[in-house]
Amino acid sequence: MATSTDQQSGRAGALAPRLPVPFFDLKAQFDGIREDLLDALAGVAESTQYALGPEVEAFEAAFADFVGARHCVGVNSGTSALHLALICAGVGPGDEVITVPMTFIATTWAISYAGANPVFADVDPVSYTMDPRQVERLITRRTKAILPVHLYGQPADLGPLLEIGSRHGIPVIEDAAQAHGAGYEGRGAGTLGLCGCFSFYPGKNLGALGEAGAVVTDDTRVADRLRALRDHAQSKRYHHDELGFNYRMDAIQGAALAVKLRRLDSWTEARRRLASRYLQALGDLPMQPPAEATGRRHVWHLFVALHPKRDLIRQKLEERGVQTALHYPIPVHLQKAYAHLGHRPGDFPVSEQIGRECLSLPLFPEMTAEQQDAVIAAVREVVPEISRARDTIDE
Ligand SMILES: Cc1ncc(COP(=O)(O)O)c(C=O)c1O
Repeated sequence: MATSTDQQSGRAGALAPRLPVPFFDLKAQFDGIREDLLDALAGVAESTQYALGPEVEAFEAAFADFVGARHCVGVNSGTSALHLALICAGVGPGDEVITVPMTFIATTWAISYAGANPVFADVDPVSYTMDPRQVERLITRRTKAILPVHLYGQPADLGPLLEIGSRHGIPVIEDAAQAHGAGYEGRGAGTLGLCGCFSFYPGKNLGALGEAGAVVTDDTRVADRLRALRDHAQSKRYHHDELGFNYRMDAIQGAALAVKLRRLDSWTEARRRLASRYLQALGDLPMQPPAEATGRRHVWHLFVALHPKRDLIRQKLEERGVQTALHYPIPVHLQKAYAHLGHRPGDFPVSEQIGRECLSLPLFPEMTAEQQDAVIAAVREVVPEISRARDTIDE
């Protein structure tokens, strides 16, 4: 997730000597869909139905169809989606949920909101997603769910994770917050586990005009419970069968998301083209490029390369007008909020290496060839020079 500073600043500084390239550009996206979006918003304003309602239902049906799930339940954020999905998986106080330390912290917030503790499996060094080989030994009597994260837009290795889960009777909940339209062996990310949880935060591949999220599932009973839970756990009006939440999706978000969903396939194709061009143009440089694992369809929410001198590269790119970001510099197990879990540096080496070395380059569907050329030229200028300097120091 980009920081709010990244989102607000939008474009790089005026002193930049070359074509400035923002990390992403929501204004360019808005300009491409202005008429349709404003019409949809006006329709909601006229309707006076502002929370849930027909606009949200229409979006839910369209998104379920898009990912290939039977049900979609719209909520007010990706974090809420994860929280409700975990409750439906039976996660409660004192339980454990296996997840990864290299993620945005909302993944583990949701576990904590359910009263459970995160138990970490490191990510694998190629896909940066949950390493299934680490999972089985972490399972205890208290394990109630496995929560892989489809990091940067690439699905985790769901086959072995589902197999381990089914052998132990433990559901898999997919954190698909960054993976709209991604795929695993031909199936839509989010549809293989008990539930798939999506975020529609504005900078996501499918972003609302504010906060929104959704859970998808094939299980009708789970879907019914999700619908109740997001709306104060009402089975019918003023009948509250369990602890509920106000996690409803706004109508305005449903309407905006429906407009954007119609463009998502073409936006994803643009992301995939840009990523493959970066891979071709930068593949020979001494930095570790991201990779699309066999059998997985990556939707390139983020293009993250690794280099030990990441901070210096970032600074030099900024001087050349190229805005970059970090996803994520501090893995969750080393966050102060989780100090009580007692982890130390060295516990999850792959996640820690990503934290130290990750650098996200600009990649968004509206990015022009000139903008991408400017990034490629700047990276090709900066990285070899900085890498040579490192070799000299190391010697
Ligand atoms: C991996 C991951 N999980 C969960 C979330 C939470 O989504 P939201 O910000 O919509 O609550 C995000 C989004 O920022 C995310 O990137």
